[in-house]
Amino acid sequence: MDRASNKQLATLPIEFKLNGRTVVGRPDEPIIETARRHGVEIPHLCYSPELRPDGNCRACVVEIKGERVLAPACCRFPTQGMEVTTDSDRTRTSQKMVLELLLSDMGEQRHTKHNEVDVWAQKLELGLPRFPARLQPAMDLSHPAMAVNLDACIQCTRCVRACREEQVNDVIGYAFRGEDSKIVFDMDDPIQVYLRTVAAVPPLTKDREIELSRHVLANDSQAENAGRELVESNLAMVVSIAVRYGGRGVHTLDLIQRGNDGLLSALQTLSEHPNESFSDYAAACVESAIASASAHRK
Ligand code: SF4
Ligand code: FES
Repeated sequence: MDRASNKQLATLPIEFKLNGRTVVGRPDEPIIETARRHGVEIPHLCYSPELRPDGNCRACVVEIKGERVLAPACCRFPTQGMEVTTDSDRTRTSQKMVLELLLSDMGEQRHTKHNEVDVWAQKLELGLPRFPARLQPAMDLSHPAMAVNLDACIQCTRCVRACREEQVNDVIGYAFRGEDSKIVFDMDDPIQVYLRTVAAVPPLTKDREIELSRHVLANDSQAENAGRELVESNLAMVVSIAVRYGGRGVHTLDLIQRGNDGLLSALQTLSEHPNESFSDYAAACVESAIASASAHRK
């Protein structure tokens, strides 16, 4: 007879005790899930069945007979004969303390109402938090597509895991240490944020570019908006030229800045080149500004 593989063994049912009752679980199913199947709710915040368990919030701790410290039920798996208690005084005190500390940090505001911490706090009949709040990170408005009230963030890292492991898109991260720790986007690096912003602007069609240039040359009522659209749709071009001149002693951010100056001067002098395509003329101005900055490095 073939020997069962570890994978097959992990799916074989086992029996363990949950709050004194014998239940059937599996070695590859976390205690929190077996408990849920048997009608026992364990508080949890950082756990989501769709994501890899991280065990960082400790709201789900349970007592395991014979073990000195409480174990997180979201990333602890049962073994045959294990005895687990989810609702003893010790576990409830610990679960409530986690919730109370998080509630203390989360001042009541419109955007913090009806959150998951409140839901669990009510279920565990927790009163008002007793502790002073930590200084919360400021709201992150660094990108047009992202606006996050970081004072409502409990740093459960569910967004980080969803972004990294499900979307395979490392935009969201967790950075810094201790009380400075916070969720960050694009590694909190302004150049990454800037690059994403300019890359998101679609290029102009030739017809649209001609139409916008006409408004600028006529200096009519739409000239200002047309000029802005011409500039914004060429910011990615500036970056691509700046990157080509990188590594020659001038920081890429400085080269981008000089290139953007060249782009603006192209717009201001467009009337001197009425028969040229704006993007061609602007590219020449941008390259000249960047080449000059690169040549005059200190
Ligand atoms: S922003 Fe991310 S880390 Fe913060 S509470 Fe929401 S999911 Fe959790
Ligand atoms: S839910 Fe288990 S540690 Fe957060």
